[in-house]
Order: sequence, then C-alpha cells, then structure tokens
Amino acid sequence: MNIWSHPNSELIKIMEIVLRTKRRVFVEIGCFNFNMTSIFALLSERNPLIIANDIKDHFPKKRELLSDLLGNSFQFVLGDSKRLKIISEIGFHLLMDKADILYIDGDHAAESTESDFKNYMNMVSPDGYIIIHDVSGFEVSSDDVNVVHERKIRPWFIGKLNQNVRLNFYFEGNAKLAYIKRSDLDV
Ligand SMILES: C[S@@+](CC[C@H](N)C(=O)[O-])C[C@H]1O[C@@H](n2cnc3c(N)ncnc32)[C@H](O)[C@@H]1O
Repeated sequence: MNIWSHPNSELIKIMEIVLRTKRRVFVEIGCFNFNMTSIFALLSERNPLIIANDIKDHFPKKRELLSDLLGNSFQFVLGDSKRLKIISEIGFHLLMDKADILYIDGDHAAESTESDFKNYMNMVSPDGYIIIHDVSGFEVSSDDVNVVHERKIRPWFIGKLNQNVRLNFYFEGNAKLAYIKRSDLDV
C-alpha cells in the first residue's frame, strides 16, 4: 500500500501556497509518515511551530527523530482529529498563535473533511491558508478513483461551492487540492 501520493506538481502547488504566508505556524491533520511535515519544517521561517496530528502513531522512530531535530517547534498530537480532546490539544499548542497553514489530509470522508474544516478554521490567521488534500487513490485502484471521490469527498466540495465558499481548486493529473485564504471565508 502506497499512501504517500503527492505528484510533483501538487508538491510545487503546496509550496507555492506556503510561500504566500508567513510560513511559521503549520497544523497538519493526518500526518502519516511526516513527509509533508518535514517539507513544512523545511519551508518554515524562524521560530516555527509545526503541529502534526494523526489517529495513529505510524512511524514512532521518525517522530522521535523529528522531535530531536526540531525540539518544541514540533508537536505530535495523537488521536482522532474530530474529538474535542484533540481539538483542544491542538488549540493548546497554538496558545496565542494562529496557523499560517492548516493542511487537512485525514480520512478524506465528506463528514471528516467538514468536521476538520469547521473545527480548525478559526485557528488559522486571516492571511493563512486552508489546504485540503483529496487524493484517496491509495484505497482503490486508480481506475476507481472517481468512484471514491464521488462517495467520499466530492459531495463536500459541491456543498461548499453551493454555499458560495470561494474554494480554489488545483486538479492536474493525480493532483487534487482545494485551498482557500482564511480571510476569504469571511466575505
Ligand atoms: C493520506 S495520509 C496523510 C499523508 C500526509 N498528510 C502527507 O501529506 O504525507 C492520511 C492519514 O490520516 C490519518 N487519519 C485518518 N483518519 C484520521 C482522523 N480521524 N484523525 C486524524 N488522522 C486521521 C491516517 O492514519 C493517515 O495517516
């Protein structure tokens, strides 16, 4: 099973979005193997805070290495992102800070995406961005990807567009991202 599924074009797009921000505070929902976490760390400005959440501690050794490298700048929060305890814990790590990037990449189900979007969007600074990753191809063969999107995340996107939420999309090849500047949610 390969669930590190970022085509280069998608990584470049994510980097471009990060570079539009102050790139100091990052919150990642569903961090899996910390590869994207490491990219965030690489792109971060001085005095960063990188909060990575996952329902499972998939790679404890890698987590420990990141912890050694980044010290208190890196916080791993273990548990279901939908749970109040986890929302509070992430809020606690942020203290007075707001996230420059909220990267939602958990289980990709419509309900989870909506829940993460609603529960964490107020933790993002007005100049920050919310990025939603929509590659669930690891669960099925690539021929079935559209079926999975139909069942899972697509209804979420359509619902948001129907509410006139100004989501931007980046769909190229296997790259499927939605993103929005936090302040665009207030207009
Ligand atoms: C596609 S992987 C994330 C990949 C990673 N963000 C990256 O870009 O390299 C999805 C991750 O979400 C985690 N996950 C699924 N449901 C979750 C939930 N309710 N709360 C937190 N993490 C969850 C899974 O354990 C898995 O590690």
